[in-house]
Amino acid sequence: MTVLVTGGCGYIGSHTCVELLELGYDVVVIDNLVNSKREVIDRITKIIGKEIIFYEGNVQDEKLLISIFNKHRIDVVIHFAGLKAVGESVKMPLEYYQNNLDSTLVLLSVMKECDVKKIIFSSSATVYGNAKIVPIKETSPVGGTTNPYGTTKLFVEHILQDLSIADPNFSIVILRYFNPIGAHKSGLIGDNPNGVPNNLMPYIVKVASKELEYLNIFGNDYPTKDGTGVRDYIHVVDLAIGHVKALEKVVKDKGVFIYNLGTGIGYSVFDIIEAFERENDIKILYKIKERRDGDVAICYADVTKAYEELGFKAKFGIKDMVRDSYNFYLKNRIEE
Ligand code: WQD
Repeated sequence: MTVLVTGGCGYIGSHTCVELLELGYDVVVIDNLVNSKREVIDRITKIIGKEIIFYEGNVQDEKLLISIFNKHRIDVVIHFAGLKAVGESVKMPLEYYQNNLDSTLVLLSVMKECDVKKIIFSSSATVYGNAKIVPIKETSPVGGTTNPYGTTKLFVEHILQDLSIADPNFSIVILRYFNPIGAHKSGLIGDNPNGVPNNLMPYIVKVASKELEYLNIFGNDYPTKDGTGVRDYIHVVDLAIGHVKALEKVVKDKGVFIYNLGTGIGYSVFDIIEAFERENDIKILYKIKERRDGDVAICYADVTKAYEELGFKAKFGIKDMVRDSYNFYLKNRIEE
């Protein structure tokens, strides 16, 4: 079976390619490398020892997409490609709506034209906005997104649901990720954001590597056990395996299926810092700052549905996540 992975050079995309290849799927990647590196393809090959077909290009490029679908018998699409920096999306809403929506609309039109009707979409827990009740279920209200990035995810979910109503032959799985962290145990692929990281874990790694002096903790006055924000961190390899489970679902059933991908456990910022320090035997300096706009106090998943319907359950714990995150840095620092 051949899977087209859009954004396959990215953090979650690359880890998903590894899991797919390991299971014997054929993988074709399209990525415009705007937020990733071509070298990731070579590293995936190094991990798996199998070639991977790569196209550098935009998912908005209809001609390129059609040529890919015609050249390769694509059975399923996993759609990761998109701009994903929350803060940046607030500053550049038009670019985010144009890129994330247009690329998806072009992709779906080409899929329809080529009679490829199985897709897994990379969504986000951010579609729940400021959820009033935790743990968050898939039936929890969506909307009230606090940034254009999150709103593009919500819009694409609506597009997919309307498409399924119009064409019941589509098989669609929407995966709502909580907070992916960690890296493949080889240290060859991982979260490597350009510039100053927005997210907690890559920021902690840069403090550990002395690239940044200290971590800013955005608020310690939330209604949580230690005042800092609580999130559902999930190992990126678990997340990748969740996509394989979703693939087995789209191959089997028609319709739209929505799943949270998380661990069901909430950890605070201090929990993460302490775990990181303990596992990596390193001190992380921090300063308490004001709350960050758009942040919620607590966000973690009810993971029952993915377990019951996909047989998915995260297996890596917080120690694996913090150790693998730092290991990715250490391996690449040595190579540089
Ligand atoms: C986690 C916690 C911060 C950085 C975002 C996106 C979401 C998804 C995952 C794409 C919070 C605190 C963070 C820092 C800090 N991405 N923090 N200092 O905001 O939960 O989710 O990434 O789908 O869409 O919204 O993740 O890692 O930014 O923050 O104190 O320098 O760490 O306040 O409590 P977030 P995060």
